Amino acid sequence: MFISARRLRDLGILGMNKRNVEYINRFNPRRLYPLVDNKLRTKLIAQKAGLPVPDLLHVVSAQYEIESIEPSLRELSEFVIKPAQGSGGKGILVILDQDDDGYTKSSGVKIGLLDVKRHLTNIISGLHSLGGRTDVAIIEALVRVNPLFEHISHEGVPDIRLIVFKGYPIMGMLRLATKASDGKANLHQGAIGVGLDIGSGRSLAAVQHDRRITHHPDTGVPLTDITVPYWTVLLRLAARCYEVTQLGYLGCDIVIDEHRGPLLLELNARPGLSIQIANDQGLLPRLNQIESIDEFAPSLDARVEYAMRHFAQYDPQQTTQPGGPKSRSARGEAST
Ligand SMILES: Nc1ncnc2c1ncn2[C@@H]1O[C@H](COP(=O)(O)OP(=O)(O)O)[C@@H](O)[C@H]1O
Ligand SMILES: [Mg+2]
Repeated sequence: MFISARRLRDLGILGMNKRNVEYINRFNPRRLYPLVDNKLRTKLIAQKAGLPVPDLLHVVSAQYEIESIEPSLRELSEFVIKPAQGSGGKGILVILDQDDDGYTKSSGVKIGLLDVKRHLTNIISGLHSLGGRTDVAIIEALVRVNPLFEHISHEGVPDIRLIVFKGYPIMGMLRLATKASDGKANLHQGAIGVGLDIGSGRSLAAVQHDRRITHHPDTGVPLTDITVPYWTVLLRLAARCYEVTQLGYLGCDIVIDEHRGPLLLELNARPGLSIQIANDQGLLPRLNQIESIDEFAPSLDARVEYAMRHFAQYDPQQTTQPGGPKSRSARGEAST
């Protein structure tokens, strides 16, 4: 690893063992896992609670449904197919367009109906799913990149990961798809992680494959001066997932649709630890701070406000920070 053990300690970096034993085991009751380990269930409970999600178009659970899927697909010009029990971007097929020659993937590559059917067959047979269990395929509405993000996203919609501890959003990261990640914003697929200031949604630092970078490898755009729009809306959406799931240690993935704004994409009961590298900050000090609060703040607003105040890394009075972005992003300011 390129960061010394001493530095990891100084930053209060949470390691895998401690995360599993002291946070996931303590705050995420096992019986609640199915709610988030299955994207279909997550979507349904989120919808029931009034949280915005990408529209569900079809659910495919048997081979005979795949044989007769063509007319249903014909009605859709764009869609996304994913395994309900997938993770890490595996098995996600993003289709941007279709015509007589076939279906266009986010990379621009064209595939045929047979490829789509084979993909669906693979999904329901469990190829991409946790433990190889048989699965169902979700076909959902394509989320289109918000114009505010167009200059930084490449071949896919960025997503925002927020870690929510006991209902408080404590750390955030923007993930950008790259050529390598094939339209998916998953770090293991080669996407970029950009750490975000909880107080403002402004970028702090960026990593790809756990290595620090300053520019988007495909577009050359600098990653240091990004402000995520709708920042407080995102924090509130993530914080509400605590009430909805009762999971105390949660990773919320949110995307921003061109027309609909922030949408909840998925929830994770075992969120990864790289977010700390992207933020150049450890989770431990923030987890400890939340645990030290005597009384749980039942109000969503109070929790979001608390997090924004205590975990802000930018001084709102100042426009420049040592080592940070040199100026405020006009785009972000207009929209947050
Ligand atoms: N409906 C969608 N529209 C556009 N892109 C999507 C959609 N669903 C997923 N993606 C892309 O795929 C990535 C992974 O999707 P997600 O649902 O979080 O599954 P996983 O559990 O595999 O991470 C997202 O970060 C996004 O970049
Ligand atoms: Mg995800």
